[in-house]
Amino acid sequence: MSGDALDLRPGQSVELLKELHILTREGRINQDSRRKLKQVLHLYGFIEKLLKELPDSDAGPTLADHGAGKSYLGFILYDLYFKQLGKGTIYGVETRAELVDKSRALAARLGFDRMKFLNISAAAASQDVALPDHIDVVTALHACDTATDDAIDFGLRKHARHLVLVPCCQAELAASLRQNKALALSRTPLAELWRHPLHTREMGSQLTNVLRCLYLEACGYQVTVTELVGWEHSMKNELILARWTGQRKRAPADRMRALLGEFGLEALEAIRYPALKLGS
Ligand SMILES: C[S@@+](CC[C@H](N)C(=O)[O-])C[C@H]1O[C@@H](n2cnc3c(N)ncnc32)[C@H](O)[C@@H]1O
Repeated sequence: MSGDALDLRPGQSVELLKELHILTREGRINQDSRRKLKQVLHLYGFIEKLLKELPDSDAGPTLADHGAGKSYLGFILYDLYFKQLGKGTIYGVETRAELVDKSRALAARLGFDRMKFLNISAAAASQDVALPDHIDVVTALHACDTATDDAIDFGLRKHARHLVLVPCCQAELAASLRQNKALALSRTPLAELWRHPLHTREMGSQLTNVLRCLYLEACGYQVTVTELVGWEHSMKNELILARWTGQRKRAPADRMRALLGEFGLEALEAIRYPALKLGS
């Protein structure tokens, strides 16, 4: 099958797609893989624009992908952007050792020598000496539960210019909502929004993402929330894009605290949003 028939980008490596099992050894593609490829290329389009906007530097751009999994995104980014650029580094952060080993082996086979894979958690990444003090772009795609929050914390500490987040399932906040439900129901009719267990989970997810956006705004980012088109098969297709402006804002911080108070979640501030106090 030709690159055109597959909607590949100019210069895109068919060999890489075979290695990622998106294409079969014979170069064929099934429906599932076609969808996966379309999704990753769609996301690539967003990130490529951000990379092109970065100021030029001798070392080139740095990107850290949290909860990298099989590193589809990292490999495609390297193949289509970093390879031709001849500089810049992609770091994959992943807790499953076997996926890290496979990614390392694949990068070595392909000669993608500016791809580094770290077998550590997103929470540990900001303290790891293998990562530089500054990272230009932080990505986290369906990084489980609070790994997205850890990626945000990492981005803040590394003064990231951009964060690209597609949050996954979220349990932490729903658990707190569940605990406070009886009290909340007696206090406010809004608690009806999370009376039923399914709604508690959905509300927990929604509120988590709202708080993440406010947090990023409070910490000096301009935030856009959109839908990751082409990800229709997944319930989790919210794309949060944050761009560093350097202007910390008081209003989102106040709003956040008000929301945390309203939902009885004040204890989360110290755990999840430590940088909030720096601006108060
Ligand atoms: C749903 S997969 C997504 C993989 C990949 N980003 C993608 O979109 O194809 C989530 C990955 O995050 C990893 N993970 C979960 N919690 C993590 C954490 N705290 N730090 C780093 N990786 C984590 C899991 O092992 C898994 O490989």
